[in-house]
Formats: sequence, structure tokens, C-alpha cells
Amino acid sequence: MHKDPTVTLAADAAGLQQAAALLRAGALVAFPTETVYGLGADARNGAAVAAVYAAKGRPSFNPLIVHVPDVAAARELTVWNDAASVLARAFWPGPLTLVLPLKQGHGLASLITAGLDTVAIRVPAHPAARALLQTFGGPVAAPSANPSGRISPTRASHVLAGLDGRIAAVLDDGPCAVGLESTIVGFDPAPLLLRAGGVPAEAVSSILGQPLASPGGDTITSPGQIASHYAPGAPVRLNATRPRPGEVMLGFGDIPGDLTLSATGDLQEAAATLFDHLHALDATGRPIAVAPVPEHGLGEAINDRLRRAAAPR
Ligand code: TXA
Ligand code: MG
Repeated sequence: MHKDPTVTLAADAAGLQQAAALLRAGALVAFPTETVYGLGADARNGAAVAAVYAAKGRPSFNPLIVHVPDVAAARELTVWNDAASVLARAFWPGPLTLVLPLKQGHGLASLITAGLDTVAIRVPAHPAARALLQTFGGPVAAPSANPSGRISPTRASHVLAGLDGRIAAVLDDGPCAVGLESTIVGFDPAPLLLRAGGVPAEAVSSILGQPLASPGGDTITSPGQIASHYAPGAPVRLNATRPRPGEVMLGFGDIPGDLTLSATGDLQEAAATLFDHLHALDATGRPIAVAPVPEHGLGEAINDRLRRAAAPR
């Protein structure tokens, strides 16, 4: 595993060249996307992909998302379908990931899919992510750039707090605008919501003209969907209206806090501030109380992450 201190690169021409050269050499480079920072590796290099699992301490049965610059690159790797075309036209580049069957001769390292015959693929919108994909010129595997089970990073400083010395570099381009991981949609063949995220599920189903099913049964269709995840070190208590003695409070709307997701009750602002505030409150070492957030639009994904943060572990 990587042992030297992690280099911080600016998202300028020199920084992007250096980041792409590191990826080509099989090294790990964290980079910003509009959702969260990703931990990037050359998706065709098995050793580099193995190093991603090692750096995160991630179980190797939990597959990675492959990032590509455009639909054409996505279609080279997957067995495409009409619904995917509709969704890609509406939401790419952007915070949507599609899970599709792998195409013959895809060239991806087999560890990426953890033995599944499908792959999760996404075209990010962030200018630095797009520039890195163009400069590198190939598919980039990238889970969120946090140690497995911890809160996702929305700033380069969060990446360093979790992975400094375990990865070659982080490309720093400030905070992430969306702040929640991508929405993941699979096909069974009917469209399925595998993870709530940066595109509200209502927006996906309205574009498709049909409701999204949820994966049923006991199968963990998206293996990252285990209950305790995105967890701060301290206990988290949900639907709180005021802090108990010793707690720090995360407010929303009319309910004030030490920090607030959005004083005006704006869900987009709440999504963008959620992980940053959880990182900051976690650093106090005190238990965290969180105000209720409405369960519609981006609130669905925000509450999903909050429930995981509060889950017993
Ligand atoms: O916004 C995002 O999606 C960020 C940025 C960096 O792109 N990435 C991210 O990756 O959140 P990660 O590894 O933290 O979460 C990927 C999720 C996991 O829950 C994994 O189980 C699921 O995608 N996944 C990957 N491949 C899959 C597949 N073939 N079938 C079902 N789920 C899959
Ligand atoms: Mg993650």
C-alpha cells in the first residue's frame, strides 16, 4: 500500500496532468465530483482497483462505480437499453448512476464488479472530474473517498482526514455542490431504485413515466446498502427537537442547532451541507441530535443517510 504523504493538487492544467499521470501509473487519486469526492483508479488496472479496496478497508464484495466522460463511453462497456437512453439524456452528466449488464470485451478489472455480471456506471458533471476523465482518457473506478463505513467526503480536507498517506494525491477543487452520492438505478428489467441520491426518485420516475420499484426480498442488490454506513464516530439521534445535555445539535428549518442543514428549510442546501456538518459535529466527539427533515425530493436521500448514520453498529 501507498506510504508517502498524500499530495494535494490544484484543479489546473498542471494538476490535472499530474493526476492523470498518477492514474496511468496505477496510483490512487481522489477527485471532486458534484456529489462527493471519489477515490479514483484506472478501472482497467486490477492492481490499482485492488489498492482502492485496501485503502478504504472496503469489503471486496462491494462493487465500485465506473466513471466515464459520455454516453458513448458508457455504451462501450455495457449492454444498453431504451430506458437508459431516456435517463442519460435527462440526467447525464450528473448525479445518476446506472447499473447495466457488462458487455463482452469490456476490459474492466474483474474486481470492480465483485463478480457480478453488471456494472455501475456514471457520467459526472463536475468540470474537474470531466477534465480528469478527458486527460486520463479511460474509465475511472471511484467509490466515495472515505474509509469504508465512514461519512462521505465533500471537501478535500475530509478526504485527507480519512485517507492521508494511503493514497497518492487529492485533486482539490473546493466543496461539492450536490453533497449526496448519486442516485443508483438498475433494471430487472423494470427500473429499480437501488440507492436514493442526488437526483430525487420522483424526478427519475417522472422522466420514465413509471414508478421505480425497490429491490425486494432479502437480497442486497446494491451491496453498499447495509444499514450501518456513513457513520460518524459518535451516536446519532434522529427527529430531535432540542439537544439533550451533552449533545451537539444539527438543525433544520425552524429548529435551530449548533449547525443547521438549512435555516430556510431548503432541501438542496441541506443536501449540500449534510456531510460537511456531520464531519464537523463528529469532530466534537459528542453525541449528535438531528432535527427532522421532510421525506420528499432530496429529503428521501438525506433521511436515508441520516438513518444509516444513526443505525446500531
Ligand atoms: O456519487 C457517487 O456515486 C460517488 C461518486 C464518487 O461518484 N460514488 C459512490 O461510490 O458513492 P460508492 O462506492 O461509495 O457507492 C457505490 C454503490 C455501492 O453501494 C455499491 O454496492 C453500488 O454502488 N454498486 C456498484 N456496482 C454495483 C452493481 N453492479 N450492482 C448493484 N450495485 C452496485
Ligand atoms: Mg461510499
